[in-house]
Amino acid sequence: MASFANPFAGNVPRKMTKEELIQAIRLNIAGELEAIFVYDAHVQATDDPLAKKVIADIRDEEKAHVGELMTLLRWLDPEEADHFAEGEQEVKEMLDQLNIVEKPLSEKPESTVGSLIGK
Ligand SMILES: [Fe+2]
Repeated sequence: MASFANPFAGNVPRKMTKEELIQAIRLNIAGELEAIFVYDAHVQATDDPLAKKVIADIRDEEKAHVGELMTLLRWLDPEEADHFAEGEQEVKEMLDQLNIVEKPLSEKPESTVGSLIGK
């Protein structure tokens, strides 16, 4: 969340190494997920139709940011991307075991990583 009390909080003494950048991207993803959680809580907590619409739109933009950051993370760390793919494959195998047919992406209402986050 915001920490504007210290105007120098965003200053850094040097550029990050690649490993530090990867860690920073993971932290950015966590921040986006937290933002989605908070915006969604606010959508659920109000009956004002305009507020619901605006905040839900912002929430969904945060989901797109998760997708961007996950793509960047996979690009920066292909080994981690392999682990993500391994997890995806494990769930697909479980779907097969349960005889659940996976819908093609075109039939899904949203096909972002954020769409997996509870609505
Ligand atoms: Fe964002």
